[in-house]
Amino acid sequence: MEPVRRAVILAAGLGTRMAPATKAVPKEMLALVDRPVIQYAVEEAAAAGIGEIIFVTGPDRQAVRQHFGGDTRLERHARAAGDRELLRRVTASEGVADFRFVEQEEPLGTGDAVLRAEEHVGGEPFALLFPDDVILGAESCTAQLTRARACGGGGSVVAVRRVARDELSRYGVVDPEGSGDPVRLRGIVEKPSPEDAPSDLGVVGRYVLEPSIFDHLRAIAPGAGGELQFTDALARQIAAGTPVRACRFAGRRYDTGRPAGLVAAAVDAALSREDTRAAALAAIRPLMPPPEGA
Ligand code: G1P
Repeated sequence: MEPVRRAVILAAGLGTRMAPATKAVPKEMLALVDRPVIQYAVEEAAAAGIGEIIFVTGPDRQAVRQHFGGDTRLERHARAAGDRELLRRVTASEGVADFRFVEQEEPLGTGDAVLRAEEHVGGEPFALLFPDDVILGAESCTAQLTRARACGGGGSVVAVRRVARDELSRYGVVDPEGSGDPVRLRGIVEKPSPEDAPSDLGVVGRYVLEPSIFDHLRAIAPGAGGELQFTDALARQIAAGTPVRACRFAGRRYDTGRPAGLVAAAVDAALSREDTRAAALAAIRPLMPPPEGA
């Protein structure tokens, strides 16, 4: 079976839910401890053996390109000062994979954004990551998906988790054939109302895809929110008979595209790291309300 060698990472959204932090800075460049959100996705993809990453960015969003491209003022300073520790940290993002950049000129939706990467994917199965979904505390989620794909003999795989009923309308929701894991899908719906949701399994922004997805992306019309929705192309791929499975991954997932999710992810990341854990605990403990009844 063909290995998954490439990943597409979307970083073209406007970041409306994180304004004003996103006025000049892409939401994917907001930091968890000392690394931008997007770096977690890059490291996750690299940990799955992926050697080439294609970023889809917005036209006014040079920060992602600079972060992974190198030769910034900070990098030149570290070199000139001979500060090897600083240089190691500044360049840590650069050698992880080969990077390519494509632009989505207008924010037409995730379906249009993925299509921009087609020429670099080259007709092979590939991983797709929405980096504002950050997954901590377990083996790379993308590695979990590529393994599920290999075990299932190919096809596409999406990561899912149980979602509270009143939050289903924020997600792509899958229609599984039974209760297995991974489980083959009969369908998938973008942002259904709770009454119309086919299950309580919501998609997290991690996919491994058969390249026929590009034909389906070309065929979709604007969907939920008036945007070209990637989920609608996946629904077409399922309907065309390609095996598409959902996999309940291990790991703690945060939606860093929302203020509460970004804060929770930052706290988790700080508590999970040996070099920041003690200081984070010392800062958080005095702020905690006493346990009830104390
Ligand atoms: C996107 C996808 C949705 C998925 C979600 C996960 O939605 O369209 O299917 O469940 O990511 O975070 P968005 O968060 O862009 O609204």
